[in-house]
Amino acid sequence: MKIKNLIVLFLILVLALVSAGCGNTPAQAQSTPAQTQAPAATPAPAATPETAPAQAAAETPAEPAQENKSLVVVFSCTGTTKGIAEKIAALTGAELMDLVPAQPYTAEDLNYNDRSTRATVEQNTPDARPEIASDISLDGVTTLYLGYPIWWGQAPRIMSTFVESHDFTGITVIPFCTSGGSGAGRTGETLGEQAGTGTFLTSTRLSSGVSDSELQSWIDSHK
Ligand SMILES: Cc1cc2nc3c(=O)[nH]c(=O)nc-3n(C[C@H](O)[C@H](O)[C@H](O)COP(=O)(O)O)c2cc1C
Repeated sequence: MKIKNLIVLFLILVLALVSAGCGNTPAQAQSTPAQTQAPAATPAPAATPETAPAQAAAETPAEPAQENKSLVVVFSCTGTTKGIAEKIAALTGAELMDLVPAQPYTAEDLNYNDRSTRATVEQNTPDARPEIASDISLDGVTTLYLGYPIWWGQAPRIMSTFVESHDFTGITVIPFCTSGGSGAGRTGETLGEQAGTGTFLTSTRLSSGVSDSELQSWIDSHK
């Protein structure tokens, strides 16, 4: 009888343990979403934006302004000057920025066979200053490669807008251009006079098929 009682007791205990184990499952199952939600509900990240920059500022030394930075700025409507600008950027490691007109030039605007079209009218209007859409910073720049096409023997008027609206102090500007055959003329000097700051070199007319080695020699000739 005693043994029987013991067995019964043991069985009751086993049953009690098993049911207790099963009883835990829903509790755990319930707690899982709570745990899953925890990171989302944790307010800690909300504090991060306030604390992180302060910590970053304290721990990370301010990045030193890059010195002797080279930049290529190009105005190009049909891609010829841009193609050369890309090569210059690749050869020098300089950043390339497009001088984007606020009002893009359409094919009709560029039709120089019609003297009444936009580009030609602008070139015939010395004080025309087409607006620029791009925000070009010259911070830290000491060498600027400045590219443009020749329009009626001159730099497009938008180049005047650019040079007149930036400070080139401490910058050597190396102008280059492409054309159907005309030379660069005094376009570099004229842009320098309009800028009033910086050192503007004589512009070089580069051919669309200029090789990398020719370009490299041209780059080196300005060092
Ligand atoms: C309005 C206009 C005037 C131009 N005037 C001349 C010029 O006087 N001499 C010349 O050789 N090419 C002239 N061209 C041709 C461009 O200089 C040439 O196609 C240039 O490589 C275009 O450069 P892009 O493709 O970077 O815009 C003229 C083009 C346009 C649209």
